[in-house]
Amino acid sequence: MPGSSPGMTALGNGFAMSNLQDLQSQILADIAAASDEAALEAVRVGALGKKGSVSALLATLGKMDPEQRKTEGAAINLAKDAINAALSARRDVLKAAALDARLAAETIDVTLPLREPLAEAGRIHPLSQVWDEVTTIFADMGFAVAEGPDIETDDYNFTKLNFPEGHPAREMHDTFYFNPKEDGSRLLLRTHTSPVQVRTMLSQKPPIRVICPGRTYRSDSDQTHTPMFHQVEGLVIDKGSRLGHLKWILHEFCKAFFEVDNVNMRFRPSFFPFTEPSLEVDIQCRRGKDEIRFGEGEDWLEILGCGMVHPNVLTACGLDPDVYQGFAWGMGIDRIAMLKYGMSDLRQLFEADARWLSHYGFKPLDVPTLAGGLSS
Ligand code: DAH
Repeated sequence: MPGSSPGMTALGNGFAMSNLQDLQSQILADIAAASDEAALEAVRVGALGKKGSVSALLATLGKMDPEQRKTEGAAINLAKDAINAALSARRDVLKAAALDARLAAETIDVTLPLREPLAEAGRIHPLSQVWDEVTTIFADMGFAVAEGPDIETDDYNFTKLNFPEGHPAREMHDTFYFNPKEDGSRLLLRTHTSPVQVRTMLSQKPPIRVICPGRTYRSDSDQTHTPMFHQVEGLVIDKGSRLGHLKWILHEFCKAFFEVDNVNMRFRPSFFPFTEPSLEVDIQCRRGKDEIRFGEGEDWLEILGCGMVHPNVLTACGLDPDVYQGFAWGMGIDRIAMLKYGMSDLRQLFEADARWLSHYGFKPLDVPTLAGGLSS
């Protein structure tokens, strides 16, 4: 060969070949030792990448004479093929191992109970539920909701409602009074929601159709009385309002509220200073050991007081009783909640016992509607 001695060629070739074999076995060992795909990729780049050791050998081919290039080129390419095959075999093994590890780490125990989403974990108190049920039913009949303050004047709580000074009915209310002011007048915690009637008549022009749900207070505490309780008042004032309208409204209300097709009602004469005539309403029911059923049975249960608004009340509120008539009713929200949902002790409603609430409470996303069901 011109320009090169045969000895050198033999030596160079022999050296290059054993060098190549060493390199190949080193790379194959590195491939076998690569413990993950990133390590394997590093080995590949080190061997076959632009600046890799095998690529460097390939780059020397250009400087060789054709004979040498033929043998060495073939040898290097063989080595490259072997390395590529080893790389892809190892890659398959590592991929499979990575998948196995992931599958083992991400196992899901499908037998575990579902965890309730946080938004559904709380419970709506039965009183809030019943409050919503009552307003939903009356809203459907065209009633608006009116409100008044818990701290009232004696005038609105009693006098304008036709409780004369010194009348025994005042004493029956077990009123919580505040200390007298300098002028001798005393504020009080309202003993019923009826003062909201007064506020509504003074601030709105008839026709009036409102319900007034709210907190009320009396100094009384036993199984069926708590110092704070809830009432809902109803008031209708118009030119032709009659007792028949009142009866129809209450009948429709009871059917909707107790979610039965029919409820028999009994209207008994009674006395309230602010109505004339005054009536108390009982509904027919059957008392079982642990439950009450409405719409059947031989028992009667009192649920509310009502009547035609007394002419003195209309006059005190600036309305002419010869032009306007009206009717009103008042009932205990706590009481109808206990009846409907079978609770025995009124005081439990206010004890904030989480176990009691999780039993008697309602799911927060089940909003009562007439179309979708009040207590579904
Ligand atoms: N305010 C009465 C009470 O607390 C309940 C009541 C009775 C309200 C008759 C009314 C009514 O509006 O007409 O005992």
